[in-house]
Amino acid sequence: MASLTIRKLDDAVKTYLRLRSAKNRRSVEEEVRVILRELIEGREEPLTPFAVPPVPSSTPAPQRTGALPEASVTLIIGGGIAAYKSLDLIRRLKERRIEVRCVLTKAAQQFVTPLAVSALSHERVYTDLFDPQSEFDAGHIRLARDCDLIVVAPATADLLAKMANGHADDLASAILLATNRKVLLAPAMNPLMWNNAATRRNVAQLQRDGVVLIGPNSGEMAEAGEAGVGRMSEAIEIANAAERLLRPPVPKPLAGKRVLITAGPTHEPIDPVRYIANRSSGKQGFAIAAAAQAAGAEVILVSGPVDLDDPAGVTVKHVESARQMLEQVQAALPADIAIFAAAVADWRVANEGEQKLKKTAAGMPPLQLVENPDILATISKLADKRPPLVVGFAAETEHLIDNAKSKLARKGCDWIVANDVSPATGVMGGDRNTVHLISRKGGEIAVDSWPVMTKEQVAIELVAHIARSVTDKSLEPAS
Ligand SMILES: Cc1cc2nc3c(=O)[nH]c(=O)nc-3n(C[C@H](O)[C@H](O)[C@H](O)COP(=O)(O)O)c2cc1C
Repeated sequence: MASLTIRKLDDAVKTYLRLRSAKNRRSVEEEVRVILRELIEGREEPLTPFAVPPVPSSTPAPQRTGALPEASVTLIIGGGIAAYKSLDLIRRLKERRIEVRCVLTKAAQQFVTPLAVSALSHERVYTDLFDPQSEFDAGHIRLARDCDLIVVAPATADLLAKMANGHADDLASAILLATNRKVLLAPAMNPLMWNNAATRRNVAQLQRDGVVLIGPNSGEMAEAGEAGVGRMSEAIEIANAAERLLRPPVPKPLAGKRVLITAGPTHEPIDPVRYIANRSSGKQGFAIAAAAQAAGAEVILVSGPVDLDDPAGVTVKHVESARQMLEQVQAALPADIAIFAAAVADWRVANEGEQKLKKTAAGMPPLQLVENPDILATISKLADKRPPLVVGFAAETEHLIDNAKSKLARKGCDWIVANDVSPATGVMGGDRNTVHLISRKGGEIAVDSWPVMTKEQVAIELVAHIARSVTDKSLEPAS
């Protein structure tokens, strides 16, 4: 039978379920079961027991950048004196945005009450394998699988033995046998129990089975005068270990590197109200900045006028014109890597009007254009502060590869990312891009053509090439 993951439901549905289950003093899962039963029996409650504020259609989707992914844990509390520490563990997990559903063994209830555990977890607590209410849809299987991780704390000698030998005669051991999730054990017992040959065998077997252990630590035991290895790890250590398993650290290949990126168009003023611009949206440069930041780099993004939110964790300098962009780029040096993705205007108006230009009988005002500074060439040819890797962009509407190859030679940069921006491609302002990476390989100019991708994928791919070339200390993009 299919299982339903509550936390993956829409926010409005989750809010409704939480309010309704709190009102009826049931767990959220039980409430869902009741609703389904009522629907089947034709006795459904009106669907608005509480006024759930409608989500306006204009409400932006929750910002995921930088947000912790949701995660959930089934916490099995065994019957040891350290069970009191598991109350703190619940709190530590919840402050890390990890949902906790607790199972107490019969012995655990001698040390902590289901009421205290339920109050801290804000969830119903499970204690009985033969609970008709939660077993009507095989609750022990749900508790075993409808979570991202199972934590056993304290893991008693008895639970270790049951687990190592595949017992399933109570709710905790049945869950541990029925799960396909990772299991984290926090053993806690008297040092003699921990060192007993049977416990040693059980622990070795569990490690072979792929179970992860945290602790036990060495120290004073609850029993007066006893000390040694057997103390349960502190709640914060267990929560950190759980978080590492739930949210493994992402590799940061650009850690310690400073990456300078330009993005967007430039606006070249004609007079105080008019300007010359181009259709660049800045999306590609912003995506590269976000990808470089995610790869651990310190990122400085110099952006022309765009309609995009600043990427999280990136220093953004907002500019208007090509000259301002060059100024900010120079101020941001030194950098290890520079990526010039901005569509910088080649020309600006020579004599920018101090006042708004007026229509006159003499006809159109003459607009004299002068060349803008060439940011890519200027930085590529710097004698002292040239970044070790300089990447330019070539947006072309014809002879893409030939123009990009000659741009590589002319500008003195290391790589060129060439893309066809003819109106038919929809690249300017669009979300997808087809690019070719032009570089020098063994004295030759190499062209690596990538398939059509989203701008985010292009960014990730480019950053991966950069990361590999930084690691190899080579200016050749790794293929
Ligand atoms: C006061 C007291 C403290 C106990 N502390 C522990 C302990 O720290 N670790 C352990 O493995 N067993 C301890 N036990 C023994 C367990 O409670 C017993 O083995 C029980 O059957 C474990 O059940 P469970 O594994 O289902 O929770 C303790 C027993 C008592 C009476």
